Amino acid sequence: MTRGRGGRSDPRAVQADRVVEQTLHEVVHEIRQPLAAIFALADVARRSPGVPAEVRGYLALIIEQASEVSAAAWSVLEGPTTGAASEGSEAVDVGDVVTSVLQGFALSWGGTFTCFGDLDGVFVLGDRATVRRCLVNIVDNAVRAAGPHGKVTVTVRRGAGMLRILVEDDGPGFGNVPTGTGLGIELTRKALEAMGGALSVGAPGSLGGAAVTLFLRIPRADSTHVDEAARAG
Ligand SMILES: Nc1ncnc2c1ncn2[C@@H]1O[C@H](COP(=O)(O)OP(=O)(O)OP(=O)(O)O)[C@@H](O)[C@H]1O
Ligand SMILES: [Mg+2]
Repeated sequence: MTRGRGGRSDPRAVQADRVVEQTLHEVVHEIRQPLAAIFALADVARRSPGVPAEVRGYLALIIEQASEVSAAAWSVLEGPTTGAASEGSEAVDVGDVVTSVLQGFALSWGGTFTCFGDLDGVFVLGDRATVRRCLVNIVDNAVRAAGPHGKVTVTVRRGAGMLRILVEDDGPGFGNVPTGTGLGIELTRKALEAMGGALSVGAPGSLGGAAVTLFLRIPRADSTHVDEAARAG
């Protein structure tokens, strides 16, 4: 029998899943097409003679951000992959993801980011677009809570088989920030769990506001599950 997402066998649920999937494909298609036009236009502008170096730099950033949106949209359809890195075909460079996310927010946020920890040569299991989407969701909340001139810190630490990315802000903490669509944390939790990781939304952080930790698996032959010590710490 055909089953829908999550192995559902009720024909109406399967049909509903198909409609959702079709709609997702259409939305992603509609997003990617204009993004392709943005790439092309920014690329033509970047190559035009006489463009000042500073403007060239901004155009390169436009192309980079548009690429990230395109990859993120595609990753929603494809879902996270857990096996790629362990098979040696792909591992996600955490330093690259953290830098890319913070640079993206820094373009439109006036507050202060500080980054601590192991950023060089650290890889995790998953796919880059999904890991990036997870971090974007948590940093987006932190930036919103911290306000336009607030502080956000990102701390990356290796544990046994698990990498922790701790995001802290100096906002008013959970329960004190107006709710948006209310999807980001749950989507992030599900995506991390699908990659063998976890999300922890805990006690107030060192900046006085919220502290949220993303756990991601480090590609090692013996690390097949979330390390409980890393989670507890
Ligand atoms: N860093 C934070 N500081 C304070 N409250 C937070 C923080 N992060 C999340 N929250 C609270 O948790 C709620 C849920 O967060 P979540 O990311 O799931 O949804 P959202 O930000 O409201 O909407 P979106 O779907 O656009 O992410 C937020 O609306 C906010 O009230
Ligand atoms: Mg959010």
